[in-house]
Amino acid sequence: MNIDIAIEQLNKRGYLDLEVPATLDVFAEIERLKVEKNAIVLAHYYQEPDIQDVADYIGDSLGLAQKAAQTSADMIVFAGVHFMAETAKILNPTKKVLLPDLKAGCSLADSAPAGLFKAFKDKHPDHLVVSYINCTAEIKALSDIICTSSNAKAIIESIPEDQPIIFAPDKNLGAYLNKQTGRNMLLWNGACMVHEIFSLEKITRLKVRHPEAKFIAHPECEEAVLNLADYIGSTTQLLKYTQEDSANSFIVATETGILHQMAISSPNKTFIPAPPNNSCACNDCPHMKLNTLEKLYLCMEYELPEIQMEETLRVQAKQPIDRMLEISKKAGLLG
Ligand code: 13P
Ligand code: SF4
Repeated sequence: MNIDIAIEQLNKRGYLDLEVPATLDVFAEIERLKVEKNAIVLAHYYQEPDIQDVADYIGDSLGLAQKAAQTSADMIVFAGVHFMAETAKILNPTKKVLLPDLKAGCSLADSAPAGLFKAFKDKHPDHLVVSYINCTAEIKALSDIICTSSNAKAIIESIPEDQPIIFAPDKNLGAYLNKQTGRNMLLWNGACMVHEIFSLEKITRLKVRHPEAKFIAHPECEEAVLNLADYIGSTTQLLKYTQEDSANSFIVATETGILHQMAISSPNKTFIPAPPNNSCACNDCPHMKLNTLEKLYLCMEYELPEIQMEETLRVQAKQPIDRMLEISKKAGLLG
């Protein structure tokens, strides 16, 4: 169903005006609802700390898709953005999949409208389409294989070298992968608003002030930022790197939510968020941060907003996700 129509329906039902009583122990209520409804709470690392603290599983996009594919819960409560919850629904048509705030979208997914992408694809009929999981179900349905930043290199290397490839929608991740694999994939011109905001100049100054710190970055960042990085990886890979590397401080170029798990798992290390190119907190993803603990509770209590999907679209979108999960399994890749 169209998201705007679904939001309007929620509004008409008065759902968007619901408030959580200030005296309610929301943490305890969420735990009660998990048991009562056989629900699992899956959260991305970019969620606010309170949400991460109540989640049953916290992961990157690959880990979350793998967990969603395996769960025996009746209800999947997805603390992340729309394309993530949609992926969980594609994999679990009979389960109830909930997203605390239906407006939690993604600038990267928005940068590839299905109609324009279909026209682009039709111009290159000999190309295979590899799409980053940060895209809509419609784009997934137009793709041959889905990838995440955890498995993208392995996915691309599983394709014969002489096979031309379209990579969508992230041009920064695509350019990074072209460099990593020696391919010349045709790139869709999309980008993440959060990862394009980092200031090269401020990062350089920060590195001078903290010569002992390792600079780590997500591959959705621009090439000039990635060129400065000591390590590049998905959110799970960045977290692992901070746990295993001998350095005691890290400058982190990705959304700030990941710093919560980094601080929990390495309490004696220092984590410095890479600065954006203006004074606002723009390295907080405005979409991810729409979810709050209160909205998570309300969505479990009222079982709304629910992700709905037309069956033909779901079946088409599932094939390239299944291919990704199969290749990742064969390569022993976990998110
Ligand atoms: P990963 O967690 O898969 O690295 O993706 C980052 C991201 O931007 C999710 O929206
Ligand atoms: Fe989309 Fe970027 Fe936000 Fe991730 S951080 S959800 S890619 S806008």
